[in-house]
Amino acid sequence: DTKIIKVDRCNPQKEKIREAARYLIQGEVVAFPTETVYGLGANALDPKAVKKIFAAKGRPADNPLIVHISEPEAIKYLAGRFPDSTWPLIKQFWPGPLTIILPKKEIVPMEVTAGLDTVALRMPAHPVALELIREAGFPVAAPSANLSGRPSPTAAEHVIRDLAGKIPVILDGGQTEVGLESTVIDLTGRVPVILRPGGVTYEELKSILGEVDIDPGLLPEKYVPRAPGMKYTHYSPRAAVILVGGSIEKIRQVVQAIAKREIARGKRVGIMATEQTLHCYSAGEIISVGDRDNPSTIASNLFAVIREFDDRGVDVIVAEGIDEKGIGLAVMNRLKKASGFNIVDADAYLESGE
Ligand code: TXA
Ligand code: MG
Repeated sequence: DTKIIKVDRCNPQKEKIREAARYLIQGEVVAFPTETVYGLGANALDPKAVKKIFAAKGRPADNPLIVHISEPEAIKYLAGRFPDSTWPLIKQFWPGPLTIILPKKEIVPMEVTAGLDTVALRMPAHPVALELIREAGFPVAAPSANLSGRPSPTAAEHVIRDLAGKIPVILDGGQTEVGLESTVIDLTGRVPVILRPGGVTYEELKSILGEVDIDPGLLPEKYVPRAPGMKYTHYSPRAAVILVGGSIEKIRQVVQAIAKREIARGKRVGIMATEQTLHCYSAGEIISVGDRDNPSTIASNLFAVIREFDDRGVDVIVAEGIDEKGIGLAVMNRLKKASGFNIVDADAYLESGE
């Protein structure tokens, strides 16, 4: 049985945090909220505890975990060789949705890094997560607290859905804010490389670093996975996803056309609309994922909406694309992956008269 401990997000009750930390200290796993998504944590320095994370999630052992810390100084005993870019990044973005990859020290077990000689480090900006790590007294390794292959959980209910009965305890701190996972940036080369777009944007990183690359693996045409986890189809809903890109007027027409086509084929169709387009559609199950003028709302709702369509049992989700600037890059990255790169260009679709 899984115990659910409700905790106040802003002022986490000491005794509740202590209760959850006791599980970690005893070598158990604990699901807990962060500002991005819920994590499934264990003592990062205890290989046996870390193995329980992989078992509960059904996660492949070759996909390394992020080590969560409660103070920036902790990187000094977990990692070595810090490039100059480390300090300004940490100063600007920690605590927050940025994970940095550095050469690891001996103390980090290979179960955490999947045999790599580098380690992923993050100080989350969530009072519950920070208090939990402090109370435990060691760094906490944690992937997202979903079953492998499911969208990351942005509410305790999602964790319950995926992992109830498989883990001893869930700290319920309500909904997460960012809604997408942290940005992962590799600092081990000459130029920092974004391996996964997330809560901290490319534009923000560039303004601090000057020079920053985006892993070419993030472009569908050259889809060569580099972060070990990127080869797995994360965020995949049960339904097939068709992602429609292009100019907004055309996206609207094409989403409606594809929805009708799929319905005619006998499919149950969900349309992932936005505030701006919600009223335009007249077929299928229509849900607004957020406001195009405020794309962080789309990031925040994305995984919950995908789960909602799955719960409603739709066969096909037709999703509107958004601009790939700011947080839009991370949103589109998750949508592209969810679609298995089944992306329709609205302009080309209309020209071909399909
Ligand atoms: O926001 C987040 O990052 C959430 C919360 C819980 O902190 N965590 C999360 O963990 O999304 P996970 O395991 O779902 O994703 C971690 C990503 C994976 O793509 C993994 O392959 C990559 O980080 N990663 C971890 N260690 C790495 C390393 N040493 N080198 C390259 N990539 C690494
Ligand atoms: Mg994950």
